[in-house]
Amino acid sequence: MRLFLLVAALAFAQKPPPPPVEEKLPGTPPEQPLAFSHKTHVTAAKLKCQDCHTMSGEGFQAGIPKESFCMGCHVAIKKESPQIQKLASFAKEKKAVPWARIYRVPDIIWFSHSVHAKDKGFACDTCHGPVGERDVLFKEKPTNMTSCMACHAAHKASNGCDFCHASQ
Ligand code: HEC
Ligand code: HEC
Ligand code: HEC
Ligand code: HEC
Ligand code: HEC
Repeated sequence: MRLFLLVAALAFAQKPPPPPVEEKLPGTPPEQPLAFSHKTHVTAAKLKCQDCHTMSGEGFQAGIPKESFCMGCHVAIKKESPQIQKLASFAKEKKAVPWARIYRVPDIIWFSHSVHAKDKGFACDTCHGPVGERDVLFKEKPTNMTSCMACHAAHKASNGCDFCHASQ
């Protein structure tokens, strides 16, 4: 069994990387359930990215804040606004706002926010663009394999296939 796995791993390692997946950048902003603006929250409310995207647990994911966190301010701020009333009803029913996702790699890919943003200190902008200046988000930076590998090569990080393709 072990030998079989080794042979399979070697065969995988020797395959040339696939052609880059086509990614149209900049992407189109998806329709969102609430008119949430990063610009307002980063400039007017003076929040830091990590106040909301806390990289909890092992920090693989940046994470999206819970509605109860938003309500910490919005029980008072703009509570008459229809948008905030919609937010409040999600919070009251303990339902997650169904935000449309923008950046995503397939589940088979190993990617850790904590390693890139905390340990290696890459700014969020490097991979997501100037989010703090945006009212609506859209995909502005690539997440395809070629883009991962280019930065790994530039920083002498490994580009072995099983570095990003977990081979468990
Ligand atoms: C630190 C306080 C704070 C937190 C936490 C916060 N907000 Fe806000 N939010 C604000 C401020 C300040 C404004 C701007 C109010 C204004 O225009 O006068 C705002 C505006 C908004 C608006 C626009 C409301 C309108 O009708 O103009 C929405 C929607 C909103 N926030 C959603 C959220 C969501 C969703 C979260 C959680 C992910 C959140 N907020 C967390 C302070 C906060
Ligand atoms: C008040 C909380 C709050 C703050 C502060 C905040 N965000 Fe967000 N972020 C959200 C919410 C809510 C969403 C989902 C809605 C959306 O995409 O606009 C989101 C979405 C995102 C996404 C897209 C996620 C996806 O679907 O792939 C990125 C990237 C992101 N934020 C980066 C940042 C960066 C970088 C900063 C700092 C400059 C920041 N955020 C500050 C609440 C916040
Ligand atoms: C080296 C590139 C890189 C850096 C640096 C980076 N991200 Fe990401 N981000 C990604 C990738 C790739 C994804 C898709 C991850 C997935 O699908 O598992 C993503 C997804 C997200 C998401 C969607 C939710 C999630 O956790 O998957 C948010 C929110 C986000 N990033 C915020 C941030 C914030 C805030 C920072 C800075 C503290 C940051 N990112 C730094 C590459 C990066
Ligand atoms: C901005 C540059 C940059 C980008 C973009 C980037 N990486 Fe990295 N990555 C690094 C560096 C530097 C390291 C640290 C290598 C080390 O410590 O030896 C790293 C480490 C890793 C690790 C090892 C993590 C661990 O647990 O130690 C994985 C897996 C990884 N990257 C996957 C990815 C994937 C997948 C993408 C694309 C979606 C990506 N990276 C994009 C720079 C980058
Ligand atoms: C630095 C991280 C990284 C390394 C190293 C890496 N990959 Fe990938 N690979 C990715 C990411 C991210 C994707 C998904 C791209 C996307 O979202 O479309 C991917 C996708 C793929 C796919 C699917 C292609 C497709 O059409 O979606 C194959 C096959 C693949 N990789 C093989 C390899 C092989 C073989 C190697 C070694 C030569 C390798 N990868 C090394 C990150 C990496």
